[in-house]
Amino acid sequence: MTGTSPQPLKVAMIGYAFMGRAHSQAWRTAGRFFDLPLDPQMSLLVGRNPDRTQQAAAQLGWSETTGDWREVIERDDIDVVDICTPGDSHAEIALAALEAGKHVMVEKPMANSVAEAEQMARAADHAAARGVRSMVGFTYRRVPALQLARELIAEGRIGQVRQVRAQYLQDWLADPSSPLTWRLQRERAGSGALGDIGAHIIDLTCFLTGERFAGVSGMLETFVSERPLPAEASADGSEHNGTGLGGRSGEGYGAVTVDDAALAMGRLSSGAPVVLEASRFAWGRKNAMRIEVTGSLGALSFDFEDMNVLHVYDAGEPGRTAGFTRVLATEPDHPYVQAWWPPGHGLGYEHGFTHQVVDFVHAVAAGEQPTPSFQEGLHVQRVLDAVERSSAERSTWTPVETDGDPAPDPTGQALHGDSAVPSVRENSRTSHARQNSPTERS
Ligand SMILES: NC(=O)c1ccc[n+]([C@@H]2O[C@H](COP(=O)([O-])OP(=O)(O)OC[C@H]3O[C@@H](n4cnc5c(N)ncnc54)[C@H](O)[C@@H]3O)[C@@H](O)[C@H]2O)c1
Repeated sequence: MTGTSPQPLKVAMIGYAFMGRAHSQAWRTAGRFFDLPLDPQMSLLVGRNPDRTQQAAAQLGWSETTGDWREVIERDDIDVVDICTPGDSHAEIALAALEAGKHVMVEKPMANSVAEAEQMARAADHAAARGVRSMVGFTYRRVPALQLARELIAEGRIGQVRQVRAQYLQDWLADPSSPLTWRLQRERAGSGALGDIGAHIIDLTCFLTGERFAGVSGMLETFVSERPLPAEASADGSEHNGTGLGGRSGEGYGAVTVDDAALAMGRLSSGAPVVLEASRFAWGRKNAMRIEVTGSLGALSFDFEDMNVLHVYDAGEPGRTAGFTRVLATEPDHPYVQAWWPPGHGLGYEHGFTHQVVDFVHAVAAGEQPTPSFQEGLHVQRVLDAVERSSAERSTWTPVETDGDPAPDPTGQALHGDSAVPSVRENSRTSHARQNSPTERS
């Protein structure tokens, strides 16, 4: 740390289970590893069960507790509201917090419907005019290997983006005796695998390519339509070993009202095709968030189960040595890494949350818009909605609503009609052929 002590930034967090624990560790750690312009103080934890909230506050490092999030809004000493509850409360809490002049960090997906997300994005724009900041917790953007991927794409290292294939695969719901927690109830979660994990790969596609979705054709599937009701303490996410997933079953059965798996084909604003798959039934895949971007000059590939690594393919390499290069994104000049450990020592799941807090605090101090903004969250919500509507209409092509941007041609003519794009494959094949030609060698 340099100079005088930074001003305090008093934080209140709502919800203390899976994301609450991840965010707490981030608020606790950010200022200890990074130089921050403000000093985040873990002031107030909100939970509905007083005993469990107090236990959580003691364990996670929060100074005070309350049973009602409205107290946070009324307190003048709270600067930031960090929303770590299921989607059914995001809009109400975020709107009240922004109105009260508090900076907001809200977990993904930003809302449970497009209408809510539109209201939140409008409120965020108005609040920004008053210096109040807001951000959505698409945490994977802060994984160093994925930041590196974005930088390489922006630098043109893979040329023009031609295709994206993205998967988010988990298997924690494949067991039909796993209980009917809030993630399986439409009125609480908005959607199933689609909004829970599909939202991440939609956001990442936009983040990496700098583009938006123009339209989609979607297909949703529910494999297990009834599940045991959760034991009382599991129902609200308060008791399930802190992972936010699963829990204990209680008496009786209830209907699953969301998708178990979501598939979609889409096109980006450039016309580039995208294939998306999100499933919580993919046996053996624990948190396999994979994304591969193929461009005119090469490709990039990432799998969160090996999160420190980015695979980079350079199509200009001669064929006999060409292949994906395994880049360990743990060098000091990789994004965020300098603040942590020596090369090769690796980062984990929790570091993305710390980086998210670091970027948020810098943006608040600088009076800048943190990313992803509520506008970006709204775009993801619109893609989720388009996938659902398409699925309900036998996978009909469904344009994603924009705010006046012209929707790209769903046939992708704009992309494929661009004859000016250099064909590196052909260039490199020609140059390899030249190198191997005896006349040219001599
Ligand atoms: N960024 C990520 O990678 C990521 C990962 C997991 C979950 N999430 C998102 O985080 C949010 C929370 O998910 P989770 O896995 O932490 O859920 P969880 O079930 O583990 O925890 C939810 C918490 O919210 C509390 N809660 C619910 N309603 C409340 C209310 N009205 N007032 C106060 N507390 C309330 C519960 O008691 C619990 O503590 C969801 O939006 C989810 O999609 C994001």
